[in-house]
Amino acid sequence: MRILVLGSGAREHAIITALLREDAGHEIVAAPGNAGIAQQVDIVHLDPSNGAVVTEYALENDVQLVVVGPEAPLVAGVADALRTRGIPVFGPGKKAASLEGSKTFAKRVMDEAGVPTGRATRVGTLDEAVAVLDDFGSPYVVKADGLAAGKGVLVTDDRDAAVEHSTYWLQHGPVLVEEFLEGPEVSLFFLSDGHTVVPLSPAQDYKRLLDGDAGPNTGGMGAYSPLPWLADRFGSEKDFVDEVLDTIATPTVRQLESEGTPFIGLLYAGLILTEQGVRVIEFNARFGDPETQVVLPRLVTPLSGLLLAAATGSLGNHESPRFSSDVAVTVVLASEGYPEGAVSGRPVRGLDDATAVAGVHLAHAATARLDDRLIATGGRVLSVVAQGSDFAEARGRVYEALSRIELEGGQYRHDIAERVAR
Ligand code: AMP
Ligand code: GLY
Repeated sequence: MRILVLGSGAREHAIITALLREDAGHEIVAAPGNAGIAQQVDIVHLDPSNGAVVTEYALENDVQLVVVGPEAPLVAGVADALRTRGIPVFGPGKKAASLEGSKTFAKRVMDEAGVPTGRATRVGTLDEAVAVLDDFGSPYVVKADGLAAGKGVLVTDDRDAAVEHSTYWLQHGPVLVEEFLEGPEVSLFFLSDGHTVVPLSPAQDYKRLLDGDAGPNTGGMGAYSPLPWLADRFGSEKDFVDEVLDTIATPTVRQLESEGTPFIGLLYAGLILTEQGVRVIEFNARFGDPETQVVLPRLVTPLSGLLLAAATGSLGNHESPRFSSDVAVTVVLASEGYPEGAVSGRPVRGLDDATAVAGVHLAHAATARLDDRLIATGGRVLSVVAQGSDFAEARGRVYEALSRIELEGGQYRHDIAERVAR
């Protein structure tokens, strides 16, 4: 199959790696990709958020499936442009992508679908914000309504900081003040063809920069899958997944279907497991990063068939995704200064030595080739991924590989999957 993958992060590299692992021998093109992706497939330099340009390329090159990685092209309507011309595309249209692009929209859909989520109030002025903050009390949760590249959410005990965050984001539009939810977080992905919904395997993401969940929120510093501790709480991982499928994912997809804006693509449920039950903290309309780097290596069923079935309304007739019993751990290597002001342009060395460790592979994100050197272009540079028969083995491998990589000022967490590796 000729497949066009849009995006340039480690998530897209992970998707491409999974597609290349299949026996089918796909012809894959990435736009715009990165230096790691360019080692494996062809790159086309087009703007992934320009629907007209992407559609023209897909038509001229007989692309049989477009996979949209990041949220920006979805919110820009790229999937709509492709679908209008009959090109199979994995990714929701602009309206359904509002599940991620607008927290107010997501809350409204959850309300109508009866999906459990935290109480939230949308405010438009600082007076309203302060009143709701004092009503909900500490810890305070304040969220910008629209896409904010991970910077829109503040969770804090500090009332002044909550007020300041509200003041800042109110300049850009409405703000949500939300009830604080306490409990472990789980990311669970679902494939949807607009009607049929099928789950993938759960993962846990580490959002904070530093060990012990200290420091600022980031795009995600590491992840592992599966989550063995779910069995203690829910009987088995499958019981947990089925509960989320029945009470959260299916009702959400059916609600959007009934509104004439079917959700075709990946529904990412960000969940908190509270004492009172599972609650949604956010939906995303695309694969998560770095969770994808640990979920897809464990997928045994060919990914291309699943994505195409979702894109063409035939998930109901497709075999269910199966996962290997191996575990996967990923640790993100970030540039000095990330997330506030990441340093760009430093060389990255030792990648061949890193991948010489058994069970290890890399997913590049912010890398580029300058002459014959690989340089980090700032932010989350790459994900080191290790598979193993248990978490102790996978962790040993991932950290051995990281010790072989040189990046001046590079930072990574040392406690990814520690709690499950004992
Ligand atoms: P979000 O961008 O909505 O995923 O929020 C980023 C992070 O903030 C989440 O991963 C949680 O750790 C935290 N968070 C968001 N909403 C809540 C909430 N209502 N209660 C507690 N923590 C939250
Ligand atoms: N790992 C968080 C996200 O992809 O939004």
